[in-house]
Amino acid sequence: MQRVVLFSALRHSALTARVHSVRLLPSAAMSTLLINQPKYAWLKELGLSEDNNGVYNGTWGGTGEVVTSYCPANNEPIARVRQATMAEYEETVQKAREAWKVWTDIPAPKRGEIVRQIGDALRRKIKVLGSLVSLEMGKIYVEGVGEVQEYVDVCDYAVGLSRMIGGPVLPSEKATSSHCGHALIEQWNPVGLVGIITAFNFPVAVYGWNNAIALICGNVCLWIVAEVLEQNNLPGAICSMTCGGADIGTAIAKDERVDLVSFTGSTHVGKQVALMVQERFGRQLLELGGNNAIIVFEDADLNLVVPSALFASVGTAGQRCTTTRRLVTKCNFFFLSIKDESIFRFIVFCTSTLYGPLHTKQAVQQYLAAIEQAKQQGGTLVCGGKVMDRPGNYVEPTIFTGLAHDAPIVHTETFVPILYVIKFKTEEEAFAWNNEVKQGLSSSIFTKDMGRVFRWLGPKGSDCGIVNVNIPTSGAEIGGAFGGEKHTGGGRESGSDSWKQYMRRSTCTINYSKDLPLAQGIKFE
Ligand code: UN1
Repeated sequence: MQRVVLFSALRHSALTARVHSVRLLPSAAMSTLLINQPKYAWLKELGLSEDNNGVYNGTWGGTGEVVTSYCPANNEPIARVRQATMAEYEETVQKAREAWKVWTDIPAPKRGEIVRQIGDALRRKIKVLGSLVSLEMGKIYVEGVGEVQEYVDVCDYAVGLSRMIGGPVLPSEKATSSHCGHALIEQWNPVGLVGIITAFNFPVAVYGWNNAIALICGNVCLWIVAEVLEQNNLPGAICSMTCGGADIGTAIAKDERVDLVSFTGSTHVGKQVALMVQERFGRQLLELGGNNAIIVFEDADLNLVVPSALFASVGTAGQRCTTTRRLVTKCNFFFLSIKDESIFRFIVFCTSTLYGPLHTKQAVQQYLAAIEQAKQQGGTLVCGGKVMDRPGNYVEPTIFTGLAHDAPIVHTETFVPILYVIKFKTEEEAFAWNNEVKQGLSSSIFTKDMGRVFRWLGPKGSDCGIVNVNIPTSGAEIGGAFGGEKHTGGGRESGSDSWKQYMRRSTCTINYSKDLPLAQGIKFE
């Protein structure tokens, strides 16, 4: 899986530096920057300029390496970001820990009020922020706006949650001569400083899930929503930011002062981060790769299958961790022949749908390499397979048939729009193939059979964190817990009880009697 992996933090109103790709390129000369062209004047509405600060901890800074952010639609430089030095990282962590002392004393519902204001600030700028995501990441405008909307949604969710988080009062077994005299309660406290290492493909939403929930829980974060904090006379360091490369990422992973490391990115880098965090017995929240399947049964509603498969395999040009990479089908539709009506509909959709470029030139190479491997492993190219003859990193959405369900390329998460269509015979086989990949993020079946639906949700069904019926593998809403099993890392972000990942639980027994009964009936005499 090829997500470019970042580091600490990106500012929602700043350029999202694409570390590995841009670091190799010299910084662009001023005259050629897109930000100076009238067409892109709207970038200045976000306070952006030719050179942008990549550090925030109450004040703006950044004196480290300068990186240029390039537009994947034409490979033109947009503007530059000055990243953090290690000294700036150090200062930021210290300030964030100081800011925590202020933040954690504020009652949770009041913290919720600040998060509500952050959501409103995002609402006011949603179009221009969506445009920035689109310009920098390459996803189409509506998906860029949708991603900011995801942050807005999770802010709203967190506001409500700020009045609801809490633990149970449990029955104590301890009995004194006259009454129980003991209270057994669960207390949840914030972990402290949360380091959020986010990825190029969802620079706003993934940060937002972590930030909004972590904040209402009483944590401070390495990231930024400066304006709202400053207007409320709160230390900006509550949401700090240190843009950087592997050096800053490693520092966060190894830093004992960072109480939780939330990492979104490739399984490969996630494993390195996990080992570094585990080495210090730190906490981690991993959201790594996926190799997601849609299984289409003979009773599926094609009017749902076709747009679902299209959105999930071609949306964001195949660069979502939830992208459908395997289409496992029982029927002849979607299969074998280009003359077949449904696959034809799919291809027509592919060619007429608004569609963005891959994020980097390296990703284009990975696309070409995967196509070669798929051919070598016995695949038949049904459509696509070529780099488009136009500026930018555009490639054709691609479908392969004829590959074995366990061909190495089918089991590889290549972060590009290639769909492998595989034929199955029995439900048992289809469920087994869904589960046989290393990752366990998202999965969908299309069927009307209620028995099958519940088998799919049950112990012998999908082993993924996201288990869908008659909807795509991608496009999860924020209200549920987001994340997956196995090599996906096991973390859960966003909705449901994911807030627990940002807090530490204390089991508290309070004796309000004058006796000292021991548990398990032990008499220590
Ligand atoms: C990701 O690709 O890292 O479910 C996140 C989805 C989005 C989030 C994707 N809501 O596709």
